[in-house]
Amino acid sequence: MRIRPRRLRRTPLLREALAETRIVPAQLVQPHFVLPGASERSAIASMPGIERMGTKLLLERVGADLELGLATVLLFGLYDHKDALGSAARAADGLVPRAVRALREAFGERLTIVTDVCLCAATDHGHCGVLEHGHVQNDATLPLLAEMAVAHARAGADVVAPSDMMDGRVAALRDALDQAGFEETAILSYSTKFASAFYGPFREAASSAPKAGDRRAYQLDPRNLREAVRESALDEAEGADVLMVKPALAYLDVIAAIRAQSALPLAAYNVSGEYSMVKAAAAQGWVDERVVVPEILRSMVRAGADLVISYHGRDALQHGWIA
Ligand code: PBG
Repeated sequence: MRIRPRRLRRTPLLREALAETRIVPAQLVQPHFVLPGASERSAIASMPGIERMGTKLLLERVGADLELGLATVLLFGLYDHKDALGSAARAADGLVPRAVRALREAFGERLTIVTDVCLCAATDHGHCGVLEHGHVQNDATLPLLAEMAVAHARAGADVVAPSDMMDGRVAALRDALDQAGFEETAILSYSTKFASAFYGPFREAASSAPKAGDRRAYQLDPRNLREAVRESALDEAEGADVLMVKPALAYLDVIAAIRAQSALPLAAYNVSGEYSMVKAAAAQGWVDERVVVPEILRSMVRAGADLVISYHGRDALQHGWIA
């Protein structure tokens, strides 16, 4: 036989030399759930290995992660005060701005700080915007998101990441940031975010599930690829610096399609439910976590993602799974 592809798979060295996809620590983004009390901490039942943390523990954890090369964090605030308009999420000296300041002071430019911009963890109804007659009001939500983004930028966030799926929010954030003098603060838009049941564990972690109804009137229908590509194109036109597909695993085709049409950097969000499934199966001995985690993370890069936001990041680096 003249043609034998197996020749190049014969030794580990050959396989390593010819690997088409690589992932380096700098591509990974570690999400963190931030609690109001500095010394508070609490486990998340559905996400073993991930904890909600106050600033004190967060500083320790991020410091240890930096040693592993994990240099980008994505912060979510867990607010104890909730009201109709999510005021806790917009406060200039709120939970997330305080955490950003503490991280910046401790680590300077060794750390890239991304903050999630969305009202759902601070609204009493659990929706991502202003709720009237059971419907989330798009345009009334935009100034509130802009206020939140500016508070994060003022505290020193490098990147703000709107995850609400309101129309026009990237433009609204860009204008507000520029007017406040934060032209250099980048926007990582959750540009293509599907209405997904894979967010289940996150909503437990952040107690951010809608009290009534669901998010299908603003997040994307999982059946739609053309609409998904269009949503990212719109955010690009509005001035997004980085695009995102979320969730990732069930949407690798969407990552590939957006990669093909946009020159912007693209992030994949390996969401909470994807993490919990792996953890649950691994705990039963049904899959080998050490092998499936790198397989999963690399699949996102192979599909076209530049950044991978994943709860597995720390494990993957600590145990050398993606070295
Ligand atoms: C807030 C937000 C959610 C996630 C990130 N930002 C939840 C949602 O939209 O309901 C999900 C992240 C995850 O599941 O890991 N809008």
